[in-house]
Amino acid sequence: MGFPVLMGILTSAIILFMCWIIRDNIKIKDAREKYVFITGCDSGFGNLLAQRLHQKGFTVIAACLTEKGSQELQACTSPALKTVILNLTNTKSIDNAVEFVAEETGSKGLYGLVNNAGRATPIGPTDWLDMEDFHRVLDVNLIGLIEVTLKFLPLLKKAKGRVVNVASVMGRLAFGGGGYSLSKWGVESFSDSLRRDMQHFGVKVSIIEPGFFKTGVTNLEIIEKDLHRLWNRLSPEVKSSYGEKYFNNYLKVQRLSMNTFCDADLSKVTNCMEHALTAQYPRTRYGAGWDAKFFWLPLSYAPAAVADIMLKLLLPQPLGIKKSLAKNQIDV
Ligand SMILES: NC(=O)c1ccc[n+]([C@@H]2O[C@H](COP(=O)([O-])OP(=O)(O)OC[C@H]3O[C@@H](n4cnc5c(N)ncnc54)[C@H](OP(=O)(O)O)[C@@H]3O)[C@@H](O)[C@H]2O)c1
Repeated sequence: MGFPVLMGILTSAIILFMCWIIRDNIKIKDAREKYVFITGCDSGFGNLLAQRLHQKGFTVIAACLTEKGSQELQACTSPALKTVILNLTNTKSIDNAVEFVAEETGSKGLYGLVNNAGRATPIGPTDWLDMEDFHRVLDVNLIGLIEVTLKFLPLLKKAKGRVVNVASVMGRLAFGGGGYSLSKWGVESFSDSLRRDMQHFGVKVSIIEPGFFKTGVTNLEIIEKDLHRLWNRLSPEVKSSYGEKYFNNYLKVQRLSMNTFCDADLSKVTNCMEHALTAQYPRTRYGAGWDAKFFWLPLSYAPAAVADIMLKLLLPQPLGIKKSLAKNQIDV
């Protein structure tokens, strides 16, 4: 390939990239006229986003799981920010929130729905879990999200609005058994179908894929307490196949990885959510956080064998059936 051809390709790439940057930075007008409904505003990303959009002049309706969360948010904002109690596992609670939003928004409809609420526990090796453990996460992160979205679609179509769904890097790379990765893979695929179906009605759908951040879902105390609950109820057979040492190492690895990976700057995620709501051309996917951009998302594109090796290096190894049998024979 000659030098002029190479220069031509390079120049075209630079021009295309600059056009993309300019397009990506075009903002919508009249943000002040728009209603945004956010779930999970008691803490974490939802709480920060509600405050930031409120400061920017959006009419925010913040859904909180608890009365305490709602009061705390109201105390640090103004009466223009409305709150409503929402439990995603309860259809009646979802219906009440939809009714409240319909009354507030009137003929304008709903411009933004941010499906942010979620939980991570129970999370742990798959054979430590039962169906109830899977339901506890899936019912909030996936089924609740779908129910809320379906019920808000008429209001979103009215406003030619936006849906911003919070998934995770764990929705691209499954590890740490339980409902969490499953739920986030579900959010990814639900969002893809929704985006393709809703494009005909002017409703845009974006997915946020955060890496690890210091919030309620990565709270070590909660995760460890739940891991103890799971470990203590295991049958002696399963316990011995892992070994007591495994459990202690598992806790150590959790502590180390959470302390290493968890970023305290939540604005890296809320900036993506804001972009999805305020850009004329919102992106389909937003990787949020350095660990997401440079480790987890690239690893999700690698062959499964490579991802398996990397994750094996990060996680402790169980004793295994053969070794645990041998150990039991020696003990006898
Ligand atoms: N932090 C991370 O590293 C990370 C990474 C990737 C994705 N995410 C996702 O980001 C989203 C926000 O989480 P976060 O990190 O900001 O953690 P968070 O501070 O725990 O926020 C989660 C919010 O969801 C609420 N919630 C829990 N169960 C609910 C239910 N049944 N109905 C309605 N609301 C409920 C929580 O209320 P309470 O506070 O009252 O429990 C809380 O307000 C979640 O979808 C999470 O999966 C987080």
